[in-house]
Amino acid sequence: MLIHRPPFIIHQFSSVSSTNDRLKEMVDAPEFTCVIADQQTEGRGRRAHQWYSTPGEGLYLSILLRPKSLSRISLLSLMSAIAVAETLLERGIAGVDIKWPNDVLVNQRKISGILAEGMSIAPAALRLIVGIGVNLNHRSFPDSLAGIATSLALETGMTISVDCYRDQLLERIEHWYRRWESGASIIDRWQELSSYARGKKIIAQLDEQAIEGETAGLTETGGLRVITGTGELKIIFSREVICLRNDAGKVE
Ligand code: BTN
Repeated sequence: MLIHRPPFIIHQFSSVSSTNDRLKEMVDAPEFTCVIADQQTEGRGRRAHQWYSTPGEGLYLSILLRPKSLSRISLLSLMSAIAVAETLLERGIAGVDIKWPNDVLVNQRKISGILAEGMSIAPAALRLIVGIGVNLNHRSFPDSLAGIATSLALETGMTISVDCYRDQLLERIEHWYRRWESGASIIDRWQELSSYARGKKIIAQLDEQAIEGETAGLTETGGLRVITGTGELKIIFSREVICLRNDAGKVE
């Protein structure tokens, strides 16, 4: 089924392996082409994790962006997390947070994740697929996610219309993407929305070392500044991080 929500053109499927992978097959599609599925059989998260994608319970959405320049491209996944967080705030949800770089949490449990994948390195033909999963109507999660995941239905006690939520999120995405294109600050809004921005004691597990310290804001490309116990400033980038824990050692 094809749905027009200008500027978005939405290809809606009942089931796909992964909406990111389905959209990758539409390599020459116009900007803002989207793939949405009622379920994903092989939904993917960052670092080869699976994304729990049961039928009708979540929003499984991928959006094709064709940014005109590589500059500030790393901010597009932060921008998407801002858009998700704002949809929750607009619905009056309390306890909304963004865990660096782009996990959206409610009351410290993950409600949304973002997987951004580049498709071309030729500057004239840049394409970025932004895959967004939002837990909407899940009433329970498998044991492996119990205690670390939540859904809008669990937070509100209400059943959520996936289509209404989709339209609300796309409106926020367009708003923030236009701001990104115009060069407006993404970092400022991200820092307003995230308790991880400053003063958070964290342990970041990288490939070969762990960095422990207190967060001190984002760099202009979205790296996380961390002041270690010895007062040294480290900057960590999302591609390096295997796992980020808060000071209590809790894996969120
Ligand atoms: C993460 O938190 O690890 C990222 C999760 C991203 C999940 C979404 S669901 C829609 C899109 N299709 C996928 O296979 N993954 C993303």
